[in-house]
Amino acid sequence: MQVLVADDTDGVSTQIADIIEQAVIEKPTLTVALATGRTASRGYHELVRRHNRVGGVSYRWATFFNTDEYVGLEPGDSSSTRYFLNYHFYRHIDVPMENTYAPCGHAADIDAECKAYDLLIKARGHLDVVVLGLGYNGHVGFNEPGSSIKSRTRAVDFTESTLAALSDGYRFKNLTETPSSAVAMGLATLMEARHVIIVATGIGKADAVHRILDCNKGTTAVPASQLTTNHPNLTVVVDRFAASRIQTPLQELNTP
Ligand code: GLP
Repeated sequence: MQVLVADDTDGVSTQIADIIEQAVIEKPTLTVALATGRTASRGYHELVRRHNRVGGVSYRWATFFNTDEYVGLEPGDSSSTRYFLNYHFYRHIDVPMENTYAPCGHAADIDAECKAYDLLIKARGHLDVVVLGLGYNGHVGFNEPGSSIKSRTRAVDFTESTLAALSDGYRFKNLTETPSSAVAMGLATLMEARHVIIVATGIGKADAVHRILDCNKGTTAVPASQLTTNHPNLTVVVDRFAASRIQTPLQELNTP
């Protein structure tokens, strides 16, 4: 594991962009899974800025998967993760839209939709890079507490903490408009990714960061801790505020 502590949100965005850009340079046919949310999207904005510079990297041959989608929302709904990544990222770069995937939260048969999504990912072999935000309760990609390390894509009910975070006005106006569940790529799929990046910024995330880094055993109560404990190639990128409650010395956390 590598833990990178940046000064501020811009520093975190730079790290996200550096990792994705380098990965697509090394492997133009990169398969990437992306979470939505404030933290990760700043990194996508930085990638867009770099892409539009002279000599910016091309995503022509890359494939992108959304890590999750809200159950009940149509892809064109401005609150869907599909819309979010189209709006903030895909439409600004040269990836063909047919190489971007998101589960359909509005599918008549959600279980069948989840199985189909897993098959799509499997057809790519594995995910090369995954960018995940961190929930206040330690969730990643809406794998809420209780999620098993063996989980695949399925519908997950939101906890109170996640409902509160989602209804803060950024994603949904209020609790009434907030969906109660999401189709979420499972932890087993995330575990199989070649490189997992977990990002968090701000003092509000400091406790979650402490819980995923300072426990030496993964627990389903803190889903991301199962990745920090078991994933062989994981990078945690935080700003100094989110890092403020880390107890373990960084030299100990950073394994070669
Ligand atoms: C949820 C979403 C993620 C997001 C995370 C943190 O987990 N599924 O996509 O990254 O919340 O969101 P934010 O960065 O806005 O705090």
